[in-house]
Amino acid sequence: MRLDKLLANMGFGSRKDVKELVKKRHVTVNNFIAKDSGMKVDPEKDQILVGEEVVIYKPYIYLMMHKPPGVISATDDRYDKTVIDLLSSEFQHYKPFPVGRLDKDTEGLLLLTNDGQLAHQLLSPKKDVVKTYFAIISGIVSDEDVLAFAAGVTLDDGYKTKPAKLKILSASSKSEIEISITEGKFHQVKRMFETIGKKVVYLKRLSMGKLELDESLPLGAYRELNKEELTFCRSIK
Ligand code: URA
Repeated sequence: MRLDKLLANMGFGSRKDVKELVKKRHVTVNNFIAKDSGMKVDPEKDQILVGEEVVIYKPYIYLMMHKPPGVISATDDRYDKTVIDLLSSEFQHYKPFPVGRLDKDTEGLLLLTNDGQLAHQLLSPKKDVVKTYFAIISGIVSDEDVLAFAAGVTLDDGYKTKPAKLKILSASSKSEIEISITEGKFHQVKRMFETIGKKVVYLKRLSMGKLELDESLPLGAYRELNKEELTFCRSIK
């Protein structure tokens, strides 16, 4: 891989900036001053320093975000703020994207990565990754609704959902529930409740498989996945 590409990817500026760093003799490769910013390097083997700083090559990033309401799960948008806009430039230069979508008004766990293969595995319908949500429902959620969701309900477009687990936390005119689904159809949870004549008024994703929202993250905050979380994500093959 080219030295300038590697350093640009690692956040040392544009390729032009990197060229400048090399020209100023700030970059060494295996203890030799780099003379050509286009030289080929092996990021796994070569020791690269910018000034005193050792460059640790990391091709992928994996971030857990506590998505706030009001931002959209996309990489860019003409009108709305996106989840990518919430990231610092340190992370933006990896060009991450959200793994699956949460609606603009939905909060909770959102994984962001630039690892397309991992995202594909997590989203694959064949993998049946369980997504659990907390929701507030306008209307009294009943045991009948639990049975209906377990059997699968037919959405407005005729699609019959796979069995979903509905847990009633409190039943009142504003019921609190937890729902676990293995699919990710457009507005799925909201549309499932529509089939039983009820409305989701608040929705928050708590987990995707074993990956749980770190509740110590305030709304809009994010952090890199820890080793255990990453192992789980990678184990879905
Ligand atoms: N189901 C929905 O209706 N909305 C979401 O954001 C996620 C699941």
